Amino acid sequence: APDIALDRLLAQLADFEAIADANGGNRAHGRPGYAASVDHIQEQLDAAGFTTERQEFTAGGTTGHNLIAEWPQAATDDVLLTGAHLDSVGSGPGINDNGSGSAAVLEVALAVAESGLAPERRLRFAWWGAEELGLVGSRHYVDSLAPDELASLTGYLNADMVASPNAGYFVYDENPEIQAVFADWFAQRGVTTQASSEVRGRSDHAPFDAVGVPVGGVFTGAGQAKTAAQAELWGGDAGVSFDPCYHRACDDLANVDETALDRNADALAHAVWELGS
Ligand code: PHE
Ligand code: CA
Ligand code: ZN
Ligand code: ZN
Ligand code: ZN
Repeated sequence: APDIALDRLLAQLADFEAIADANGGNRAHGRPGYAASVDHIQEQLDAAGFTTERQEFTAGGTTGHNLIAEWPQAATDDVLLTGAHLDSVGSGPGINDNGSGSAAVLEVALAVAESGLAPERRLRFAWWGAEELGLVGSRHYVDSLAPDELASLTGYLNADMVASPNAGYFVYDENPEIQAVFADWFAQRGVTTQASSEVRGRSDHAPFDAVGVPVGGVFTGAGQAKTAAQAELWGGDAGVSFDPCYHRACDDLANVDETALDRNADALAHAVWELGS
């Protein structure tokens, strides 16, 4: 898999911050900062040669959108789906939650295009709306799939909060095969990963898991505090939240661990290549 460039990830985060700044300080469902975020991502995917579409749904009485992009070349009709929620909470720009996952998924998708990949599986990428209202966009997508479309989904990889400033290295443990693909990437670089109790059922992989799609993903921690043992393992501050700005106005460009962002984006690329091509 290609190496995802940190400077490109950071440039995507700066774009999200600028979008929030120009739109009342957030990128929340139903607000102009969300629509501008969708536009910005869709333009880049269209220019790279993806087939893109917006899927509408209603949440909290307001229209929301998922953005779905598919790479047009594939040898089979089996699908590998990779996604991140694109909406923030109303209280801030949502740069770690979840500009980080959105940027990682986008840069992996753009790397697929730039490498001219002709993969085995259909590589589909999704940016979900209204996760912060209770996984509304991803649940709507799962509910919208016909039985044969659901059966073609061989896996769903999720990225939600992958640059927490007091980062932990968590790998979802729902599916042992996908878990191993991520964990091995980190182990080869001397980074020990853990399963997280904080993640289970709480992000966009949950609706897929509930209908039997194999799921996996990476996570650097939210409001829980890092333990002393975890600080010894990964560095950072024991007794402090993985992300002290979780769901706050200070979740801005300064609220990212660049090493964690880079590693998780590279690990996600590895998983897409490993499981999809
Ligand atoms: N999904 C939660 C949110 O967006 C936080 C979270 C992310 C929890 C990832 C677990 C794993 O606020
Ligand atoms: Ca990298
Ligand atoms: Zn619309
Ligand atoms: Zn959140
Ligand atoms: Zn989130």
